[in-house]
Amino acid sequence: MDRSMLAEMLTFAEETARAAGGILRDRFGKDHDVVFKGTIDMVTEADKASEALIVERIRAAYPEHDLLGEEGARGTASASGLQWIIDPLDGTTNFAHHLPTFAVSIGLEQHGRSLLGVVYDPMREECFTAARGEGARLNGQPIHVSSTPELIRSMLVTGFSYDRETRLKQAHLWRVFIPQVQAIRQTGSAALNLCYLAAGRFDGYWERGISAWDVAAGACILQEAGGMVTDLDGGPFSSADRVILGSNGLLHPAMLEMIRMHGEFPPEGVTS
Ligand code: IPD
Ligand code: CA
Ligand code: CA
Repeated sequence: MDRSMLAEMLTFAEETARAAGGILRDRFGKDHDVVFKGTIDMVTEADKASEALIVERIRAAYPEHDLLGEEGARGTASASGLQWIIDPLDGTTNFAHHLPTFAVSIGLEQHGRSLLGVVYDPMREECFTAARGEGARLNGQPIHVSSTPELIRSMLVTGFSYDRETRLKQAHLWRVFIPQVQAIRQTGSAALNLCYLAAGRFDGYWERGISAWDVAAGACILQEAGGMVTDLDGGPFSSADRVILGSNGLLHPAMLEMIRMHGEFPPEGVTS
């Protein structure tokens, strides 16, 4: 991909994420039309309005590109292999509870390889961006992962999917990590977790049960900020996988080792 073309598409993605974020900011704190996709997995009218805006703009600007949106938008596979991956509101549960921590996430991949990512938090007006080979930025300023060298000095972050069994596995890993680290947080937005890791606010992140739209943009931003992203066994990362391990790079071996040694669920000797 030509550098100027990539820069043009990054500008387009940023403008689109900012416009969609404006919709979320306008609707924040009001009553919402909530529909449940599962027992606890909800979608509001704001998720749908944000996705509609993003998809309309992509179809107008890049009609030949494929797209994948959390709220159902689909394109058709293109010969170029270019696909936009969209989470119109990452952090819906926060948003519905009037907690101002959520973001719009727009990633672009080519044959499954990330080319760019934009994650926009409209309440803090923080826009995280990255293009392959060009570094990562927050509101235009370069960002880099932390240099925290040991788990006991680290602040980790995780999240919980909407599936009960997956949550129990996550809770088990939480228990494995908590005595070994300074703190573990949960923001409620996978996209922001990856961007905060990219900006050095967190040192490591793991999650099971995520989807491509949760992490496609954020993983690109983390890698461009000097971080590392793999699956939970240390294998290559793909946004199509349902698991992710991200870190500042320095903590990756220690986190992988903890997961390898103690990550099995139910723990050895315990029957559920
Ligand atoms: C969720 C958030 C959450 C993560 C879940 C995601 P949504 O996305 O990113 O942090 O733990 O796995 O599904 O539903 O708010 O778009
Ligand atoms: Ca999401
Ligand atoms: Ca979402």
